[in-house]
Amino acid sequence: MPNNFRVFATCDIGDALEVLRKRGYQLEVYPDPKAPPKGLIIDRLRSGIDGLITTLRDQIDAEIFEAGKGTLKVVAQYAVGFDNINRADANRCKVPFTNTADVLTEATAEFAFFMLGSLARKLWSAEHLTRENKWGFWHPYLPFLGDEVTGKTVAIIGTGRIGLAMIKKCSGFDMNILCYDPAYQNHEYIKAIQETIDLRYARGIQKEKTSIKYVSLEDALRQADFVSVHVPLLREGESPTPTFHLFNEKRLRMMKPTSFLVNTSRGPVIDENALTKALKENWIAGAALDVYEKEPLPPESPLRDPSIEDRCRLFPHFASAARITRLSPDPAKGMAGRCIQGLIDVLERNYSGDVKRMPYVVNKEAF
Ligand code: GLV
Ligand code: GLV
Repeated sequence: MPNNFRVFATCDIGDALEVLRKRGYQLEVYPDPKAPPKGLIIDRLRSGIDGLITTLRDQIDAEIFEAGKGTLKVVAQYAVGFDNINRADANRCKVPFTNTADVLTEATAEFAFFMLGSLARKLWSAEHLTRENKWGFWHPYLPFLGDEVTGKTVAIIGTGRIGLAMIKKCSGFDMNILCYDPAYQNHEYIKAIQETIDLRYARGIQKEKTSIKYVSLEDALRQADFVSVHVPLLREGESPTPTFHLFNEKRLRMMKPTSFLVNTSRGPVIDENALTKALKENWIAGAALDVYEKEPLPPESPLRDPSIEDRCRLFPHFASAARITRLSPDPAKGMAGRCIQGLIDVLERNYSGDVKRMPYVVNKEAF
């Protein structure tokens, strides 16, 4: 059966799009690497689009759903996060939207761990030293030392999929783990991790006994050597437990002066002005960020201040940016594959057309 569905992709998501072309879809891909202006998306929708493929860069709200009224059947978001999509507007217009959870979990967690390691062991400063010919001698502690990760305490803020994967990576480095989540606790997983830790200790694989437990946010921040953030962005009014500026001045001041903050979740979870102050005044030892209040990071961002350059690592929203994770057309492995499958499920009425049963649809409550 030929499918004449019209799909507009606001971005090229790679070879996985061939899956749609082979099925007979009429596919239009916005060719520029930068995001299209909203007006252009609206124009395309008014021309009668059945499926819209979006990225984090597209603001999807009432205006968009209005433009697609009568024809738009699905928004397939190429990301796990969907804070760019107004869920209430999607629900009012009864348009399902999908995301690409799971396939980027391990990639994001490993990147968070590498960021943590880069901060702790001063990889950036150490390479600069070498490249800039400032490595004059080998010395026990000059010109600087880093901090070990092994045996230290990490606080995992947010124990959804990515937080749990980060816990798994940290447990492999013999770390003590403090968990906090405002909304969702997975005690089974934490118990299983403790069992693997205990086995590693009993069999002599790790030398020190370590532990994992849920604690209050305050306890997590006060005790941790590393704090890694894995919460979704929820603004005031969107949830009983909003995460916007969760890391404000008060919370940053709870952290130890020797501790490091890692953020791979969403920029606005951290108040960047407060963080800049924390780094300048040494309330904490350092931070590594992959996400920002405004992306791309503006040239005038205070985070670029050269006086904190040695302890502030900045990355370009890169945690999921690994080949298979981003591009695999296999819905079990790649964001591209999962995005396409989510779109197909809705348009081709898989699962007997029951949106509630479709695994990649997010806003099931509207149906
Ligand atoms: C990336 O930030 C994502 O939400 O997939
Ligand atoms: C360091 O290189 C050492 O041999 O201890």
